[in-house]
Formats: sequence, C-alpha cells, structure tokens
Amino acid sequence: MTPLVKAFFDEATNTVSYVARDPQSSACAIIDPVLDFDHASGRTNTASADIIISWITEQALTLDWVLESHVHADHLSAAPYLQEKLGGKIGIGANITVVQDTFGKVFNEGTEFQRDGSQFDALLSHGDSFNIGQMQADVLHTPGHTPACMTYVIGDAAFVGDTLFMPDFGTARCDFPGGSSAQLYASIQKILALPDETRIFVCHDYKAPGRDEFAWETTVGEQKALNVHIGNGRSIEDFTKMRDSRDATLGMPKLILPSLQVNMRAGQMPEPDEQGDVFLKLPINKI
Ligand SMILES: [Fe+2]
Repeated sequence: MTPLVKAFFDEATNTVSYVARDPQSSACAIIDPVLDFDHASGRTNTASADIIISWITEQALTLDWVLESHVHADHLSAAPYLQEKLGGKIGIGANITVVQDTFGKVFNEGTEFQRDGSQFDALLSHGDSFNIGQMQADVLHTPGHTPACMTYVIGDAAFVGDTLFMPDFGTARCDFPGGSSAQLYASIQKILALPDETRIFVCHDYKAPGRDEFAWETTVGEQKALNVHIGNGRSIEDFTKMRDSRDATLGMPKLILPSLQVNMRAGQMPEPDEQGDVFLKLPINKI
C-alpha cells in the first residue's frame, strides 16, 4: 500500500510536516504540524497551519489523525488548531508521561498540569496499529532523541520524526533530558529492519555540506548504505562516541523553552491567568 504523501516545509524551524492520504478514500493524517511563533514578540501565527488546512480542504479530505512523532523542542505544535478546524484525534507516544514528568519539574508546574498524557486523544505504544481510512498505520517506539519518540509506518512510508535525518546529514541529537545515543542506535536498527524500498520521511532538514536544496524523502536502503552517522554497518560503539561528542558542541534550539511548555500540553498554551492572559516561563539555568 502506498499512501500519497504531501510535504510542507517550514523554513523558519527547518521542520517538515506531512499529510499522508489514503489513495482509496478521502481519509488523511497530518504528521508534525507547526504553529508559527515569533519568540521576540511572543506572538503566535497560524500561517503554516492554514496552508495545510487549505490543501486538505481543496482536496476534500477528512482528517482522521494528527500525529506527533514526539514532543518537539524546536517548534510549537499546531495540533489543537488543526483539530478545531478539521477534527481528528491527536496521537503521541505513550512515554509522553515520562516527558511530562521531566518538564513538569523543569517548569515547576502545579498539580493542574496532569502528567498522565490526558491532554492527548490517543497514547500509542510499540506494536499498536490504527487506521487512516483503509490504510493501516503501525507504531514503532523509537526513543533516543527523546523517551517518547515514535515512528509511524503507514504502508510503504515511514515517518521517522527526529531519529534519522537525510543520509548526508545523519541522525538526531540525544542530549535532551531522557535522551540516549545507545537507545537511538537501537531505535534506528528497528527502522532499518523495514524493507529497503520503504520510503522514509524525516521531520527536519538543514541542508548538508555540498547540498543547496532542502530534502526530506529517502529510503531505508539509502540510509543503510549512505547515512553518514550510522550507514554501512557502523557499530554502536562508534556511533555513541561520535553522537555524544558532537552533542556536547551543540547549542539549544531557539524555541526550546516555549516549545516544550506548549507541546507537552498537546499544543495547548498554559491556563490563562485571572485576566485571561497567557504566559510562558523562562527557567533560569535549568536546561
Ligand atoms: Fe525533536
């Protein structure tokens, strides 16, 4: 089965959002949608999400699911906005509870912030499957970048979130709280065990030395042969050494603090104060 896949690239955050569409019905799923956020002014904007809504509306599709590959640290999720406009269920990995526990502490959230994943409509576990129209989606738990990272395999298409990037760029960082390069290595082996012709859709692209165009689609076969971090049978020892030393040199993503506070709530802002105003926190020396 071959879902029709439409990519939407957000250059401000280097994020690729996708619509995966059942070729035999009007059903579709959105994977990893972006809510635009200007950090300097604290203003949100739905321009990126509205482009997806327009496309889905033009194609007369029905939105069954909004799927998050993980709690993103580099962009805010537009999942609740898309759900309000188009319906569908918001799904994320069941280990979201671990992420909520970690960042509930970092942001000193009160008891009104539930750490049970109840902000989402579906908590998905390894081995689960669900339907998008006639298509079956299979869920792989692929932690390492974060504890709740999932890969959604829909027919011959795998949406891998931040596990693998394009072969010339490599793999995702593993230094966020709860991350582990050894776990990422094992998770990537699960993805590479899919058939070679499986299409892989990555969640981010930053170009790469010698490549001037953004790119986001590759295959399992290409990753196995060519991925600069893990291809050609790279050993776990080599990989973890490379990944950990590289991560030690990376700065934090520009939007990490707003992103985590919003995305751990399934894309909702924190509760407004008595005046109806919404605030995000800026923890000092915590991350
Ligand atoms: Fe990420």
